[in-house]
Amino acid sequence: MVKIAPSILAADFANLAADVARVADEVELLHVDCMDGHYVPNLTIGPPVVAALRPHTDRFLDCHLMVDNPGRLMAAFADAGADGLSVHVELGDTAALLAQIAALGLRRGLAFEPQTPYDAVEPFLADIDVLLVMSVHTGYGGQPFIPDVLDKVRAARAEIDTRGLHVEIEIDGGIKASNAGQAAGAGVDILVSGTGIFGTDDPVTAVRAIRAASS
Ligand code: DX5
Ligand code: ZN
Repeated sequence: MVKIAPSILAADFANLAADVARVADEVELLHVDCMDGHYVPNLTIGPPVVAALRPHTDRFLDCHLMVDNPGRLMAAFADAGADGLSVHVELGDTAALLAQIAALGLRRGLAFEPQTPYDAVEPFLADIDVLLVMSVHTGYGGQPFIPDVLDKVRAARAEIDTRGLHVEIEIDGGIKASNAGQAAGAGVDILVSGTGIFGTDDPVTAVRAIRAASS
């Protein structure tokens, strides 16, 4: 069964615990989009918000680091209660960053942008727990899904299965019930959705629609 990870970027930050509580029983993870105003122009949230949220939920806190020098922040995310950290391959220094995540006892995620080829992440497949395929350009919620990235999902799925690797494929950006089935069919294990869930009038119904569309 596909897992669902609502992105809290689209939640009400002034009522974050309540927004998360509404969907928590319906989902497996919560996706936390951390942006620093450098790697991406947008500025969002970081370890203090993860720490504030942690006592309110037992869901997996999946932190997507869209920041320069993510290594400087990793210990703070671990202390805050993050369960997994994803870094971008575009930053370089990937092997060292993944090792640092592992040393903190967290799940290792490797993210790549829509324009970055699959070849850039392929060498790291044996050293990660989750491959985060971006289906929008990082920086903002609410952008349209880029279907071309599904070719990279299919390539990763085939290689992971052929090599018997324990790597989950996560897709992030523009996911809604209308394209969740396409993503799941390409081999995705985890669907991130921000505005597709928290941007709707009824987030629980939205989660259920995404799940129904992907099963
Ligand atoms: C984009 C973020 C995504 C985004 C998803 O930089 O990494 O996680 O918040 O939001 P939607 O689902 O609205 O595209
Ligand atoms: Zn994200």
